[in-house]
Amino acid sequence: MDEKCMKRKFVFDLCNEQQIEINIPEILDPRYGMYTWPAAAVLAQYIVNRRDYIKTKFILELGAGTSLPGILASKLGANVTLSDNSLFPQCIEHSKRSCKENQVLDKVDFVGITWGQYSLALLNLPHVDIVLASDCFYDEKDFEDVLVTVAFILNRYKNSKSWITYQERISDFDIVHLLHKWKLKCCHIPLKMFDAGSSSIGQSHLPGNHTIRMIELTL
Ligand SMILES: C[S@@+](CC[C@H](N)C(=O)[O-])C[C@H]1O[C@@H](n2cnc3c(N)ncnc32)[C@H](O)[C@@H]1O
Repeated sequence: MDEKCMKRKFVFDLCNEQQIEINIPEILDPRYGMYTWPAAAVLAQYIVNRRDYIKTKFILELGAGTSLPGILASKLGANVTLSDNSLFPQCIEHSKRSCKENQVLDKVDFVGITWGQYSLALLNLPHVDIVLASDCFYDEKDFEDVLVTVAFILNRYKNSKSWITYQERISDFDIVHLLHKWKLKCCHIPLKMFDAGSSSIGQSHLPGNHTIRMIELTL
């Protein structure tokens, strides 16, 4: 493994004292999703909490980066497709590396999806029940593009929903007008409801003292 590469370990508690361990390779260059962001740990904890529900569901992760939530969902029995920006193939390669490290490379599909683009990759997706996105709302210029892609999928697949975590970096973060424009309903999910209210999730140092929020979007 490259000398700049290190591994971050997560250990999530299931029932009956069972645990699930995920090791994420990370490159010390956070620019292209080569690093696990605090919001990913929160979304992963939500997936653990909803493990009975997600089993056998079809899940697409947007902007997956190191792919902690998607890998966990795959290990818990979901059919997972991981996506990242089609313009950054190195991110998808890193996602594959992460899957290989966790023995799910053969179970997961990979696709390049750039937010806001009605690409063939998006149009050719198999069924989707749940769209995951962690820390995809970090640059205001992309907010609408992320929601355009989510709205497209929710409109296409009946009863699908999106689970999104984001890091509150600016106190006036506001997507209400965009949710209204794309006719999306938003439900806030308090982190305490799924044991994600502490600074350490999955025995890791994430999310630390960052403010992370979780929402569910539906039509
Ligand atoms: C802050 S990182 C979050 C990565 C991962 N979800 C996590 O929480 O650890 C943002 C991710 O979005 C991807 N991304 C950035 N711009 C994108 C775009 N326009 N379309 C699709 N993915 C994009 C990046 O490559 C990166 O993997």
